[in-house]
This record gives sequence, structure tokens and C-alpha cells, in this order.
Amino acid sequence: MSMTDASGGESTTSPDARLSERPDWIYLLREFEALFRHGSAGGSKAIRTHRKAVRDRLSAVIAADGGFVEQTPITKPVTAHFNRALDVGERGAMQGMARALRQVRDRLTWEYGYEKVPPALARKYAYCEILGPRGPILADRLILGFVLFAPNTTYPQHSHKSIEESYISISGAWSENNAAVYAPGSLILNRPGDEHRITTGELEPCLLAYAWVGTPEALTAPGMKLTAPKRKRAGA
Ligand SMILES: [Fe+2]
Repeated sequence: MSMTDASGGESTTSPDARLSERPDWIYLLREFEALFRHGSAGGSKAIRTHRKAVRDRLSAVIAADGGFVEQTPITKPVTAHFNRALDVGERGAMQGMARALRQVRDRLTWEYGYEKVPPALARKYAYCEILGPRGPILADRLILGFVLFAPNTTYPQHSHKSIEESYISISGAWSENNAAVYAPGSLILNRPGDEHRITTGELEPCLLAYAWVGTPEALTAPGMKLTAPKRKRAGA
């Protein structure tokens, strides 16, 4: 989700280790694999296709014993809510994922992904990637990660060009586009270009796992931009 490492679509990152040398991270990948293999598509062909794309790409990384790049752990203001999010997650439907994430909690690199982050959002949001072109687990056609929101957050409207995105709640409740309330275990699919806006519950933080499927070029330079409000776009 960063724009700082646009290396022309090819990963120039050289691994520090093989994945098999980092069992805690394989543990986390196994949880993602189980989620995308055994969860329901709710009868949606588009979601079934997305789930298969994620698990096929993930299985290929595990089978190839892909590279692992050591990264500097970084926190953001919102990570003050991480303990609560993990504790609540471990009591719910997504307890396996919450437990696996706890094993690597001090090794995560939390980021914003935007050159200019609205100040209100900078205190209430951050994400970390666990697999993708920049690592820590190297992959070029899939990004897996987590996004953490403080209670009572609005993540402004945005869309992703050439990237298919799914969110699965690990802890906390959230709503997308005012359409419904989603609980731990629920999956939302945003296809390329789909505009979406997220709000989170008033009292508890919300931790979502996400998967991005795309070409190496799209995933290396996703160019994240928030959608300008309509009144500002008029005449643009
Ligand atoms: Fe998104």
C-alpha cells in the first residue's frame, strides 16, 4: 500500500531468509489459507473466484518457500488500540487469526500509505503488510495485511485501480458504504474501481485482515488516493 517503493513492477528486494526459517509467519499464512479455503462465499460467484485467487497465490508462495525480508518495526498512534483488538479477537470467531497475529505483534511495520494523511485519520488508522512485493514475506501478485481502526473512525471514500480487495473482520464491528454492520468473520469484496467508505463501532477498535489481488505492476505502485468530495471535484 506504499508509494515509496515503485521499482517498476519488479521486486529488487533481496531476501534475508527463506520463509521456512520464520515459522511464526508461516503460522499466520496458514490462518489466511484456512480462511480463504474453508470460509463461505455466500453464494457469490465473484467472491468464490476472489477466494480461489487468494488461496492459489498464497499456496504458491508457501510451496515455493518464498523469501523473507526483515523489516524495522514501526508503530503509529492507533496501535495503542492493538492490545484490546487482539484480546477481543481472541474471544471471537476469528480467534485463530488473532492468536497467530499476536506471535508477530512486535515485528509489524505500521504505515499510512498516503503522502498526505488527514490529521484526524493519522491518529485513528494504520495498516501493516505481512506479504507482498515489499515483504516481509515476498510475493508479487498478492498482498496480505491488517488494518487497524480506532473506535468511532470514518475511513474516507476511496477506490483501488486494477486491484481487487477483500476485508475480513478479525475484531470489532464495521460498516461499509452504510450498507450493513459486519462482525468478525464477515468478508467484503471491493472490485477494482468500487468506491468504498468504512465506519467503525463507537466503543471498540476494529481490526480487519485484507487481501489485494492484482498484477505485480498494480501491487508495486498502487497509488492510493482518497476520493475528493463531489463539491471539490465539480468543474475539475
Ligand atoms: Fe480499500
